[in-house]
Amino acid sequence: MNKQPAQYNDPEDAFKEHLIFNLVYCSQVSEGVDGSDVDAIIASSRRRNAALGITGILVFGSGVFFQWIEGPKAEVMDLVKLIEADRRHEMMVTLSTDEEVRERIFPSWDMELVDAENIQEVLQDALETAHDEKSVDALQLMLHRVQEQA
Ligand SMILES: Cc1cc2nc3c(=O)[nH]c(=O)nc-3n(C[C@H](O)[C@H](O)[C@H](O)COP(=O)(O)O)c2cc1C
Repeated sequence: MNKQPAQYNDPEDAFKEHLIFNLVYCSQVSEGVDGSDVDAIIASSRRRNAALGITGILVFGSGVFFQWIEGPKAEVMDLVKLIEADRRHEMMVTLSTDEEVRERIFPSWDMELVDAENIQEVLQDALETAHDEKSVDALQLMLHRVQEQA
């Protein structure tokens, strides 16, 4: 998997424990949207998210998007408004939001595209490297959700 380092003024910032807001949602992929549209979404996400200090993953598969976005609350909420207005998906449903002092779960991914088939592996890897209890809880919850839908 292509790991793109996120852009921070101080590279250590991405890995330190800060007040981190995260939002998880799922949505339905609009008709006619294909892999090349998703590549374009990822390209613009990497540019904007790096500038905003936002990291996360976007899962695409079986006609559904699932996205984990983490970063400063105001920036995440502004981004979510922008994403919500995007016609390449519809029926966006927020699954959870949380704000806690903890490490980032995906510190080096500005926005990484993950196939639906690989999501369990990505979450399992993140679980193995997660240090704080809150991240472990969040990851276990996501793994549980993904396994329920498999
Ligand atoms: C499912 C989905 C997820 C997206 N995630 C992001 C994201 O994390 N960051 C981002 O900047 N844009 C994301 N976008 C795209 C935005 O809605 C918007 O189109 C884009 O940022 C505009 O970029 P541009 O100004 O470079 O054209 C997403 C769009 C969709 C449909």
